Amino acid sequence: MRLIKTLDEIKGIKKANQIIAKIYEDIIPQYLKPGITTKEIDKIIDDYIRSCGARPACIGVPGPYGAFPAATCISVNEAVVHGVPNDRILQNGDIVSLDIVTELNGFYGDAAKTFAIGQIDEESKKLLEITEKSREIGIAQAVVGNRLGDIGHAIQQFVEKNGFSVVRDFAGHGVGLALHEDPMVPNYGRAGRGLKIENGMVLAIEPMVNVGTYKIAMLNDGWTIVTKDGKRSAHFEHSIAIVDGKPVILSELD
Ligand code: MF3
Ligand code: CO
Repeated sequence: MRLIKTLDEIKGIKKANQIIAKIYEDIIPQYLKPGITTKEIDKIIDDYIRSCGARPACIGVPGPYGAFPAATCISVNEAVVHGVPNDRILQNGDIVSLDIVTELNGFYGDAAKTFAIGQIDEESKKLLEITEKSREIGIAQAVVGNRLGDIGHAIQQFVEKNGFSVVRDFAGHGVGLALHEDPMVPNYGRAGRGLKIENGMVLAIEPMVNVGTYKIAMLNDGWTIVTKDGKRSAHFEHSIAIVDGKPVILSELD
């Protein structure tokens, strides 16, 4: 897959991402209340994506034990990523990470966000704040003149300085003409290492941050990734393009 996209392609990739931005800003927050199941959340998102003429592109992604069955990865509390929507009822105090992929006219959008259900404890509030901020700190490093390692290094430094850990086993990635493209964009690493950042790259920057250990395990549904120590985890992801030397966030609502 080509690492460098044209401006027209970036426009198309942005359109796919804007559907996700709209979901996170306007469509789903009103439903994220105690009492809803993760399956119900997925249905609302699936319907909305299709109403935009797009395809919910998480559906059918191959995994080690079969295809992902839903439009949205929904990961609650100690779940890190790839949670499978089910009949679990969200409770006051839960945190829930939504991760959505759309395909529109052959272009892919990918973005994730962790939401609070009702009133959450102080530690969880800090977790959400630090994870979201770490994403912005990573994005700020995505400039021409830097290398991929500068992104991961900045994210890791900030997260660990705040007492949390970054997941090592999953990373950001190139995106746009497919869901997962090269290059891999780890959320940890050494400054000044890795591929040079260039105009036309489109990257998903997606720190997964844990309260406790960075180590993870997989549930026997073959998808849901949880923290090894059972402590909470958050996930914030944007798709960005490098244009005129600087990052442009494609998955932020216009
Ligand atoms: N946004 C996720 C990622 O970047 C994609 C989830 S793939 C699925 O890896 F199969 F779990 F849906
Ligand atoms: Co992604």
